[in-house]
Amino acid sequence: MESIDWSNLSFGYMPTDYNVRCIYKDGKWGDITVTNSQTFEIHMAATCLHYGQEAFEGMKAFRGKDGKIRIFRMDENAARLQSSCRGIMMPELPTEKFNEAILTVVKKNERFVPPYESGASLYIRPLLIGTSAQVGVKPAKEYLFLVFVTPVGPYFKEGFKPTPMAILRQYDRAAPLGTGRYKVGGNYAASLVAGEKAHDMGYSAVLYLDAKEKKYIDECGPANFFGIRGNSYITPKSTSILPSITNKSLMQLAEDLGMTVEVRQIPEEEIATFDEAGACGTAAVISPIARIDDLDENKSYIFSKDGKPGPICEKLYHKLRAIQYGDEPDTHNWVTIVE
Ligand code: PLP
Ligand code: COI
Repeated sequence: MESIDWSNLSFGYMPTDYNVRCIYKDGKWGDITVTNSQTFEIHMAATCLHYGQEAFEGMKAFRGKDGKIRIFRMDENAARLQSSCRGIMMPELPTEKFNEAILTVVKKNERFVPPYESGASLYIRPLLIGTSAQVGVKPAKEYLFLVFVTPVGPYFKEGFKPTPMAILRQYDRAAPLGTGRYKVGGNYAASLVAGEKAHDMGYSAVLYLDAKEKKYIDECGPANFFGIRGNSYITPKSTSILPSITNKSLMQLAEDLGMTVEVRQIPEEEIATFDEAGACGTAAVISPIARIDDLDENKSYIFSKDGKPGPICEKLYHKLRAIQYGDEPDTHNWVTIVE
């Protein structure tokens, strides 16, 4: 513990002291329990193992200059998990139960919340799975909700530095009327081959086009996409992308800065007109995009030549982080202080 190098953490798993769990059985959710076991036993015919009845969330807790721990937009994650549950027929976890679990697990692992100066944070990973046996393709009757935490640094190892992304038309992550809008494991399994291929070629992520027409921008692997043109913040409208809580927050911050926010389909060619582009998400925060290579059409869209983020990305990034770490007033009521 004493040896954690907080400033040089990567986005990986490190064991912490406790995780919390809650079981759904006989039509109701039970009490939250705390454990130090990092494993659990599961029936070999559990629906999460065979039919992908699994949804997760990703959120972060931050330690401020004042020593207080702040959790960002917890209610939004509770609501999105409920939406994922509806999407794959799992029982919804009530928001109060979700919040109680998050506050408990963060408090219990308080010593793993990185110090303010490190710029790192505590990643919170809620998980909900179907656990009872089923061989026919049907939802389970019993479920496990679990939350673990682990201290993390930047998702893309470059941190807040522009990285290149690739368009690869041979792969889809999610279908237009499929599960892309839910945070379910199957979407991530579907993205592994393309993601590894892109990494092997030196890209930090795949920029997906819409699966039907391959015409409009969808999202960037594990993050939403936004572009900046003049005074506009432009981000895709699509039924196959995850509604990002970071993106929603950046849209509000962009508006606060007097920018115009446009949520609409973005034809690929339009990105040629953007001054800046970025990927955004809990893990990614803002990861500015240096260049997008369309590998099928041999085209490149360049956003940063000098290795530096653009001025709007820079402004939005600092604004968001300042609210998360408590350096600026939380005027939108996004932060829950862990007492
Ligand atoms: N898109 C995908 C596919 C993601 O996995 C994530 C990460 O959660 C995001 C977007 C960003 O969402 P959020 O800002 O809520 O973390
Ligand atoms: C997040 O940003 O929280 C994510 O879940 C992205 C990725 C690690 C799956």
